Amino acid sequence: MLLSSPFPEQWKRSHSCGELRNDKVGLSVRLNGWIANRRDLGNLIFLVLRDGRGKTQIVIDGEKTPAVYQEAKHMRQEFVIAVKGEVRMRPPSMINDAMATGAIEVLAEDLIVLNASAVLPFPITDKTDASDTLRLKYRYLDLRRDELHENILNRAKIARLLRESMEAYGFTDIETPFLYKSTPEGAREFLVPSRIAAGQFYALPQSPQLFKQILMVAGFDRYYQIVKCFRDEDLRADRQPEFTQLDCEMSFVDQEDIITTFTAIMTQVVNAYFARPVLQAIPRLTYAQAMADYGSDKPDTRFELKLRDLSPLLKDCDFKVFAQAIASGGIVNALCLTQQGEMTRKRLDEMEELAKQHGLKGLAWAKIKAASGKDAWQSSLTRFLDEATIDSINTQLGAKAGDLVLIAAGSYSVVKSALGTLRNKLGKELGLYDPKQLNFLWVVEFPLVERDAEDTRWLAKHHPFTSPMDEDLVWLESDPGRVRAKAYDLVCNGYELGGGSIRIHREDMQETQFRVLGLSREEADKKFGFLLEALKYGAPPHGGIAFGLDRTVMVLTGCDAIRDIIPFPKTQKAACLMTSSPAPVSTEALNDLHIKLNICNLEE
Ligand code: AMO
Repeated sequence: MLLSSPFPEQWKRSHSCGELRNDKVGLSVRLNGWIANRRDLGNLIFLVLRDGRGKTQIVIDGEKTPAVYQEAKHMRQEFVIAVKGEVRMRPPSMINDAMATGAIEVLAEDLIVLNASAVLPFPITDKTDASDTLRLKYRYLDLRRDELHENILNRAKIARLLRESMEAYGFTDIETPFLYKSTPEGAREFLVPSRIAAGQFYALPQSPQLFKQILMVAGFDRYYQIVKCFRDEDLRADRQPEFTQLDCEMSFVDQEDIITTFTAIMTQVVNAYFARPVLQAIPRLTYAQAMADYGSDKPDTRFELKLRDLSPLLKDCDFKVFAQAIASGGIVNALCLTQQGEMTRKRLDEMEELAKQHGLKGLAWAKIKAASGKDAWQSSLTRFLDEATIDSINTQLGAKAGDLVLIAAGSYSVVKSALGTLRNKLGKELGLYDPKQLNFLWVVEFPLVERDAEDTRWLAKHHPFTSPMDEDLVWLESDPGRVRAKAYDLVCNGYELGGGSIRIHREDMQETQFRVLGLSREEADKKFGFLLEALKYGAPPHGGIAFGLDRTVMVLTGCDAIRDIIPFPKTQKAACLMTSSPAPVSTEALNDLHIKLNICNLEE
């Protein structure tokens, strides 16, 4: 029977589907929810009823309640129903420890359908093999699955814990605008055309960076906000075009104050989330050390497998590829894999392929047969390297019989990035770490600037408002590449969770930095004039940090894909399949915005 009234009062739930336990046995209850599962055993139907808070088993006994049984016979998965019944203990053999309410069930006395469901595009089950496209199109159905449902609840819990901690530390929640000025910071921006000012555009903020600095000038000395940010960049497993930051800024602080404050906040949040002291201390590593040892500025330190420098041993060797790489300012690095000497040719080729994708010309390898001596290595390199060199390499790497050594030569950045990527892949594939472990790390002393892709000018490594380290100021104009910044990242398990810096708070210093970055006074004024102006009026020393909420949730919940912890994510092509956006708009809407389309480069 479908009801004419949308939702009669007498059918409203007395309890959620997640809360009944054996202390409620004998109680008459009303439950509302979706039919997650239905088993018809002849004169007995078992339903699993699900709401946002859990699941309860409902039993419909055809002998005791024949009319209810008839009604239930026609109900399908995902019908929304209301049930009245009595809580009873399950027979001992039917107790389900995997279910929070698994000790009890509700014997239905009456039930109604509040709404039917069309045939589902895919079954709502714990594990699904439905395609991503289907799951994203019917996101509301996918979100009913336990795993995603749990992820979203955990996301809310983490956001709440972060807020509580920030408030406890005296930070004030302040909003900043979404309709903002175009101030490209690195990634491409999303633009919003103005109707009132023909031909002019707002940009959606990549972060509230300049507003939070201006809030410091305005005298709010501890700001935070959980806020959406927008970046039109290539998407990856840990990147979305709109994502969420816990954005923070503090006045009258130095780098040490910020690192100490956020170590305390993160420790509080992580330990409250897991309800045990998972996080005790966060070690620090300099950017230079991270690159040298792990080939990454966001190293996964759950496993050792460090990159080892063989350049001093190989600079004069007969193998031209190595010797020339070193002679032209490059390096030769190795990874020594314990007891992987049996690795197949096919896997070694795959490894080389990956190395080539990262710019290496090739990847050499040696299977270690003995720690030293004439036949210590099985490798094509033995033609070029003498016994003493091979012995020295083995000693330096601590290589033993049965190990595998991978060797790469080239420029510093290419070798580090390629071996760093291989290291992560091998760490995962060889199970070198406990996936449940959390290894937090502060990476500090980042370079202030880096060369652009065409090697024509300096770009800010973090952003142009980052302060150089005092001891490196002397090189700011003469040798900017040598200058380290008061910038820091919080890293966990190979993900950059957050990044920030001490800002430049003096106008003259900010102007110098713009000059180093090749921005003329006019350009700087045009882009950031409002900041330069604000810095004139007594800007306090200040600095801050922003954490990616999405990535923090990913790491704490152990998810590999950012999409699984965002309620309504976008695809790799930045589309929302549920609402079909982006989408064309009417000519009238474009006319209102004074826009005439001239679509080009559609092929790309
Ligand atoms: P940054 O650009 O390093 O710094 O960003 C801070 C953190 O935001 C997260 N993040 C992203 N998460 C998902 N998808 C993306 N596309 C994406 N881009 C960034 C990362 C990153 O660590 N204004 C500065 C912060 C500051 O200096 O205070 C900023 O935005 O977790």
